[in-house]
Amino acid sequence: MKFFVDTAEVSDIRELAETGLIDGVTTNPSLIKKSGRDFIEVITEICSVTDGPVSAEVVATDAEGMLDEGRKLAAVADNIVIKLPLTWDGLKACRKFSDEGIATNVTLCFSANQALLAAKAGATYISPFIGRLDDLGTDGMELIEKIRVVYDNYGFETEILAASIRSAAHVEQCALIGADVATVPPAVLKSLAKHMLTDKGLEAFLKDWAATGQSI
Ligand code: E4P
Repeated sequence: MKFFVDTAEVSDIRELAETGLIDGVTTNPSLIKKSGRDFIEVITEICSVTDGPVSAEVVATDAEGMLDEGRKLAAVADNIVIKLPLTWDGLKACRKFSDEGIATNVTLCFSANQALLAAKAGATYISPFIGRLDDLGTDGMELIEKIRVVYDNYGFETEILAASIRSAAHVEQCALIGADVATVPPAVLKSLAKHMLTDKGLEAFLKDWAATGQSI
């Protein structure tokens, strides 16, 4: 499973990219607002830190507007992926970008039917939002399972980009189901390395090593 990092904080992306564990980046208008920075400036900087796909989201709600904005965003760097909302107009823009060979990430997906439409519109990635479904008291992970089945049934190449991930358990379940990508906030990504028994074991090893009086 590929890891994308879900943030517009360039310092976090730079730090995580140094591990070689990051395959790409996703942003959205809320993350840009949180960064307090200029959108184009931020995505330009992100693209200088990583060669992996960087999702940049349009804000127009009509297909023509999405195409205009998407083309401006695509001009920033070769690794920009145009993020489009899963609306009828978003699907129309997706088809057009797909025909032009421009990569797309169709976002705000909350049903398998929506994911099926995105795949048929030629989406490069589909972003089902797990956490926001969980917030409603439903099981967001079931959506990942359903989309995996639908895409495998018909051999769609659209990649399942599990989004709105809130915990390490979400990441593990996505990997078990076979999501192609998980986009993960930096803190959740770092938490994947943590285990209480790792900390306890290391403490014991270091204590025993100190007792040997040796050095390497
Ligand atoms: C995905 O591309 C979105 O940016 C993100 O995962 C949404 O997460 P949230 O529901 O925690 O805002």
